[in-house]
Amino acid sequence: MKKINVGLIGFGNIGSGVIKILRQKREFLTEKIGLEINIKKICDKDTTAKRNISVQKSLLTNDPKDIINDPQIDIVIELIGGVHPAKEFISEAIKKGKHIVTANKALLAQEGKELFALASDRGKNIYFEASVGGGIPIIKSLREGLVANNYSSIFGILNGTSNYVLSEMSQHNCTFADALHQAKLKGFAEKDPTLDIEGMDSAHKLVILAYLCFGKLVDLKDIFIEGISHISLADVNYAKDMGLEIKLLAIAKKEGDELQIRVHPTLIPKAHLLSSVNGVFNAIYVSSDFAGNLLFYGPGAGQLSAASAVVSDLVELTQDIKAGLFRPTLNIIADKSIKKICCIDNVQGRYYIHFTTLDKPGVLAKVAGILAKFGISIASVTQKEKSKEEVVPIVMIIHEAKEKNLRLALQAIDKLDAIKVKTVAIRIEDV
Ligand SMILES: NC(=O)c1ccc[n+]([C@@H]2O[C@H](COP(=O)([O-])OP(=O)(O)OC[C@H]3O[C@@H](n4cnc5c(N)ncnc54)[C@H](OP(=O)(O)O)[C@@H]3O)[C@@H](O)[C@H]2O)c1
Repeated sequence: MKKINVGLIGFGNIGSGVIKILRQKREFLTEKIGLEINIKKICDKDTTAKRNISVQKSLLTNDPKDIINDPQIDIVIELIGGVHPAKEFISEAIKKGKHIVTANKALLAQEGKELFALASDRGKNIYFEASVGGGIPIIKSLREGLVANNYSSIFGILNGTSNYVLSEMSQHNCTFADALHQAKLKGFAEKDPTLDIEGMDSAHKLVILAYLCFGKLVDLKDIFIEGISHISLADVNYAKDMGLEIKLLAIAKKEGDELQIRVHPTLIPKAHLLSSVNGVFNAIYVSSDFAGNLLFYGPGAGQLSAASAVVSDLVELTQDIKAGLFRPTLNIIADKSIKKICCIDNVQGRYYIHFTTLDKPGVLAKVAGILAKFGISIASVTQKEKSKEEVVPIVMIIHEAKEKNLRLALQAIDKLDAIKVKTVAIRIEDV
C-alpha cells in the first residue's frame, strides 16, 4: 500500500496531539483513505524535552532542513506558531515541492497573500483548518459545504480566553481582573494574554474567514480592533438588565458596496444563539443566501480538537496526492459587489452609553443637547443607583448613529465638569 510521507515541524501542544491521533487512529485512517500516513520526521528546537507522547529518537531532529530537503516527504505540517521563521520554513517547503498544513493564523493573516500565491504558482496547496475555531470544521464548510452561496455577514466568537472572561463576569458576577485570573489558573489564558484580550487573535482569524467568505485578503491595519480589558462588571450587569449580553465579536459584514470588518466588544440580544456561547467555546454565525443562517459551535482550542482539524487537512491532501491531481482548493472568487473596506468612522449603529456624572440638575439636558448637536437621538435613558462617591451612572441606548459623530459627541460630553469618568460606549449589533 502506498505511503504518504509527512514531516512535522513543531512538536509542541498541537504537534503532539497530531501524533497521538495518527497513532491511535492508524488502522482506521489507513482503511478509510486507502493509504498510510507515515510521519517520517519530527522537528523541534528541543529534541530531548519530555512530551506527552513518546516517539522513536530516530524520528526527531532539530534541523527543519531534514524535513524541507527530504525528497520523500510529500506534506509538511507547520505547528511552531508565529510569523518567523514559520514563513521561511513554509516557503522553502513549497519550493521543494511539498504541500503544507498549518494552524498558524497569525502567519496567514500577515503573510497569507504571498504564501498562497507561491503555493498556487508551484501547484501546491496550503490547508489551514485548525487556524480558526480549533476542531470546528468552519474552513471546509465555507470552502466546500457552502460553495453555492454568497455571504452577507459573518459574526464570530473566535477567542476562547476572552469569551471565558466575559462569561465569568456575566454568570458569576466577577470583575474583569478576577475573571482573567481564573482563566490563567485554569490554563485558559496565556501568561501574557494581550493578543487574546485585546482582540488581535480574533482579528487574525477574521482575516482568514473574510477571505473565504468575500474573497478579500484584508490587511490587518484595515481592521478596527478593540479589546475587552475596559469592560466593567457594571456594564455587563447594566446590559443584562436591558436583555443584552456582551461578547467579543469578530464581524465581517457587507453593507451596500462596502465590507465592514471589525473586532470589538459587542452587545447582542440575550435571545440570540451567540449570546449563549459561554466559557472557552467558539462559535461562528454565518449568513448565506441559499443555506440561510448557520451556527458553527464547539471548543475553539485544545490539543486534540485542533489536532483533529490538522489530521482532516492531512487526509484531504493525501486524497489529492493519491489521485495524482492538483485541486486549487483556495480557488477564491472575489465578491465583485464589494468596492471598498468601510472605515469604522462611517459605520452606522446603535450604542449603549454609560455616563458617570455628578448628581446635579441640568446635566442630562446638557448631555442630550450635545448628542442632538451631532444628530444623535436617544432611545432610552436609565439612571442607576448612586454610588458612594456621589456620582450617578446614567445608561443610555441611542438610535442608529454614525460612529464618528458619536465619538465627537462623547469627546465634548467628557469635557463637561459634571462628567467624572471617561464615558463608555459599546456597540449594539442586531445580528
Ligand atoms: N494551542 C491551541 O489550542 C491551538 C489551537 C489552534 C491553533 N493553534 C496554533 O497551532 C500552532 C502551534 O501551537 P501550539 O499550542 O502547539 O504551540 P506550542 O505548544 O508552543 O508548540 C510549538 C513547538 O514548536 C517549537 N518551535 C518553535 N520554534 C521552532 C523552530 N524555529 N524550529 C523548531 N521548533 C520550533 C516550540 O519549541 P519552544 O517551546 O522551545 O519554543 C514548541 O515545542 C500555533 O500556530 C497556534 O496558533 C493552537
